[in-house]
Amino acid sequence: MITRLIVFGGTGDLAGRYLLPGLAALFGAGHLDARFEVVCADRTGRSQEEFREWVVAQLDRHAADLPSVARKAVAAATRYQRADIRNPDDVAAAIRGDGPIAVYLALPPAVFPAAVTTLHEVGLPTGSRIVLEKPFGEDLDSAENLNRLLADLVPERAVFRVDHFLAMTTVQNLLGSRLANRVLESIWNSAHISKVEIVWDETLTLEGRAGYYDHVGALEDMVQNHLLQLLCLIAMEPPITLSERDLRDRKVDVLRSVRPLTDADLPGRTRRGRYLAGRIGDREVPSYVDEQGVDPHRRTETFAEIELALDSWRWSGTTFVLRSGKALGADRKEVAVHFRPVPHMPFGHEGTAEPNVLRFGLDPESLSLELTSVGSTVGTLVPLTLTAQVQPPELPAYGRLLLDVFNGDPALSIRGDEAEQAWRVVSPIQSAWSRDLVPLDEYSAGSQGPADADHGR
Ligand code: BG6
Repeated sequence: MITRLIVFGGTGDLAGRYLLPGLAALFGAGHLDARFEVVCADRTGRSQEEFREWVVAQLDRHAADLPSVARKAVAAATRYQRADIRNPDDVAAAIRGDGPIAVYLALPPAVFPAAVTTLHEVGLPTGSRIVLEKPFGEDLDSAENLNRLLADLVPERAVFRVDHFLAMTTVQNLLGSRLANRVLESIWNSAHISKVEIVWDETLTLEGRAGYYDHVGALEDMVQNHLLQLLCLIAMEPPITLSERDLRDRKVDVLRSVRPLTDADLPGRTRRGRYLAGRIGDREVPSYVDEQGVDPHRRTETFAEIELALDSWRWSGTTFVLRSGKALGADRKEVAVHFRPVPHMPFGHEGTAEPNVLRFGLDPESLSLELTSVGSTVGTLVPLTLTAQVQPPELPAYGRLLLDVFNGDPALSIRGDEAEQAWRVVSPIQSAWSRDLVPLDEYSAGSQGPADADHGR
């Protein structure tokens, strides 16, 4: 197991909000001990004192539910190092020490090529691993280029292109429900399933992340990675095992089967939007363009919806809707599997039945099945929902991902060809949107999003 982690971009939002709490969970659960070292590096040049205060504040804010002994263990294991990722001397100083290391690039995607080039120049100890945050690249060309640079640095098995959704409990439970049960498999196809919605609607707004988000937007922030990964787990053929090769081969098959959207398809099959000022609960929210750090000329979307078809024996005829938006009126984070209506309804005119829906709630984590039952009056039908809570996870998603990195298991990270295939799906949309083939709709913060979006129809 690797016992040294170097985080470049180590005092940013990602490190404070996710990585430090993930490490605290690992210390708390006994996966890491006092030998473990963390170096947080960035260009700003802080004193160790300032840094320690920042670490404690982040843990108090984002890991308050963990025992104080776990938070203290992270604070004790972590030190600051000033380093510019473009400067080989700085990088050499940051990674100096014995044994293999894990290098985490918690940096904007545009910096990845320069970062990997510097690491190549400096050289990593044998057995080291590299972790990259999503989005991997900015388009298909840049992802291919980055894959080439990485291939020169470390073997593919040592590259962790993380997608924290894959480590969420309900996402893991998609696999459990599909692969550890008999009942679903025989109806898991287009003969029985009309539509699958993969939805991440957030009430969250920009949250001060313009420096990152304004350069990517909803399509690259959510759809290209998290939502396409969910699509893979829903639609893949059952793998032989859940080892990295079997699982990732089957996921790549799904991405390869996505029918490319043409310019003619795009206006009917994709929607994009940007939020205007509004009210979410008791919060007044400014227009996206008035948020600090936003450049209105970028025309960054805060809402993206796409409808995909898969050209495969199992899924030809099923529609897959992938949607995510910020500043919406209500959180809706789920995968909803809509079954077709029954072929014959023998209940006469009084009987009406909604088609069945199986819902994998992603946050909060739950599982529910909407059935139809007979009502108390003869001949009537009523909806019936069976709901179950999913077992709470021992580790938060980032804790699980970091543990996999330290143990060298890349099954839950994205393989290089998988990242390229995901861009193959998204690139025609990026291109058409940049040419304004699809209008940039506006929606009020606190609403359901652009008027003509799917909204679970
Ligand atoms: C991140 C996106 O990857 O996932 C955010 O950049 C989004 O925009 C977030 O809000 C959602 O995941 P979580 O786990 O933070 O709720």
